[in-house]
Amino acid sequence: MTPQQLAALHEAAFRTERPWSASEFQDLLQNPFVALFPHPSGFALSRTVAGETELLTLAVDPAQHRKGIGLLLTQNWLNANADRAETAFLEVASDNLAARGLYERLGFGIVATRAGYYARKNAASADALVMRCPLTFGQPPFSTPHPQQSG
Ligand SMILES: CC(C)(COP(=O)(O)OP(=O)(O)OC[C@H]1O[C@@H](n2cnc3c(N)ncnc32)[C@H](O)[C@@H]1OP(=O)(O)O)[C@@H](O)C(=O)NCCC(=O)NCCS
Repeated sequence: MTPQQLAALHEAAFRTERPWSASEFQDLLQNPFVALFPHPSGFALSRTVAGETELLTLAVDPAQHRKGIGLLLTQNWLNANADRAETAFLEVASDNLAARGLYERLGFGIVATRAGYYARKNAASADALVMRCPLTFGQPPFSTPHPQQSG
């Protein structure tokens, strides 16, 4: 996927937050600690440093929501890091119930809250929730229930 494709998908998926530009994606992709997990209708981007892997962003084409793609991408990220990281973490807006549902289903729990972290147009800002999940070295614990949607 090109930086332009990533930026277009990100803008389509994130309606209440600032979209990331193609040049921001280009910079991230040049970082040796950053990994891209692509899919024809979405992507996940992570950074793994010193035994911790962070989900930087996750986006699925709104026309393809609720087909298991977000789950597949998140599992791909977790499985790719199961033998090199002890924990996985991410930040999610408290009002993003879709993403929270997805992460909770995979075993993530809230470990911290950053009050008012996400600015909202014409609305009160939303808290950021830091969510964390332990990983098992060498034993990927996350099965993929939607194998037909690999990409
Ligand atoms: C969050 C997002 C990635 C989910 O992608 P998706 O492909 O639609 O999710 P999936 O179909 O894989 O859903 C997996 C599970 O997540 C939960 N989930 C997904 N969407 C949900 C919703 N709208 N409401 C409640 N739970 C939801 C459910 O547990 C779901 O399982 P189920 O469909 O069997 O009930 C997608 O909504 C998106 O791109 N949102 C905008 C960008 C974003 O918020 N990214 C995450 C930022 S931290």
